[in-house]
Amino acid sequence: PAEDQARIEEIKRLLAANNAVLVAHYYTDDAIQQLAEETGGCVADSLEMARFGARHPADTLVVAGVRFMGETAKILSPEKRVLMPTLEATCSLDVGCPADEFSAFCDQHPDRTVVVYANTSAAVKARADWVVTSSIAVDVIEHLKARGEKILWAPDKHLGGYIQKQTGADMLLWDGACIVHEEFKAKGVEDLKGLYPDAAVLVHPESPASVVELADVAGSTSQLINAAKALPNEELIVATDRGIFFKMQQAVPEKTLFEAPTAGNGATCRSCAHCPWMAMNALDNLASALREGEGEIHVGDELRQAALKPLTRMLEFNR
Ligand code: 13P
Ligand code: SF4
Repeated sequence: PAEDQARIEEIKRLLAANNAVLVAHYYTDDAIQQLAEETGGCVADSLEMARFGARHPADTLVVAGVRFMGETAKILSPEKRVLMPTLEATCSLDVGCPADEFSAFCDQHPDRTVVVYANTSAAVKARADWVVTSSIAVDVIEHLKARGEKILWAPDKHLGGYIQKQTGADMLLWDGACIVHEEFKAKGVEDLKGLYPDAAVLVHPESPASVVELADVAGSTSQLINAAKALPNEELIVATDRGIFFKMQQAVPEKTLFEAPTAGNGATCRSCAHCPWMAMNALDNLASALREGEGEIHVGDELRQAALKPLTRMLEFNR
């Protein structure tokens, strides 16, 4: 539509005028991903978003995604202004892991190394020894297991259970889940496989174990896009937020992509496999963040210093 085009042009002007760069997650709207790509920003998984923002020389980072992604960017680059289209975009994993309860849980298990998923508040990260994203979680836990460490993991129990299975590490799990990935159903994926027996199944490990078990490849959003390219299969069944289809289809234009069903009867519920918080990022609020300086992320210095330690470990970890 013409209004969208006008917004897009306005955002391009504002990005340039503010020496700003747009960093977007794969689950945001197609128009936002496209804009990030066209303007020299990045579209990425959460680890690559953090790396890109930390390295980029821009004065302002505009982070289109959910709150923890903006906070991570600010913690890593305190000298930059970090704006988000909306500060309301949270994550069910973050909401399900309040810092005070989490800290009490850690206090009860002082013998365990605390590893938290990036999908947490700065205050939860500040209590952790390590932060990981899904793309390096298995490697980091393997490394800690080899050092004889026992793990306290939070907040995603499905991702935690998957890592535990992969590594055999001793892991105590917090009881959190992603409301989007939790909806995928093994029965639905099996039914779809029945219709397309040659299809490969790609699954984000925030999904329930019964769905991950059916995966040909389980991994972070970037890893799933890479797998879509690397696999010989012409048909792919994908269990993650449907925002990923924009870049995945670009990567494999000749392949057929199917959304993994979110209901046992094989029917796909369109709104289930899309994160309601990622969906809050839009061209309008992106433009007004840049125009008015709205949606700025602030992290207090003490909290920032504490959260920086485990985040730096993550960025410096070499598998
Ligand atoms: P990725 O690190 O795989 O992009 O995952 C982030 C996320 O929120 C998945 O739901
Ligand atoms: Fe959080 Fe799930 Fe949304 Fe990712 S998809 S941001 S884990 S609620």
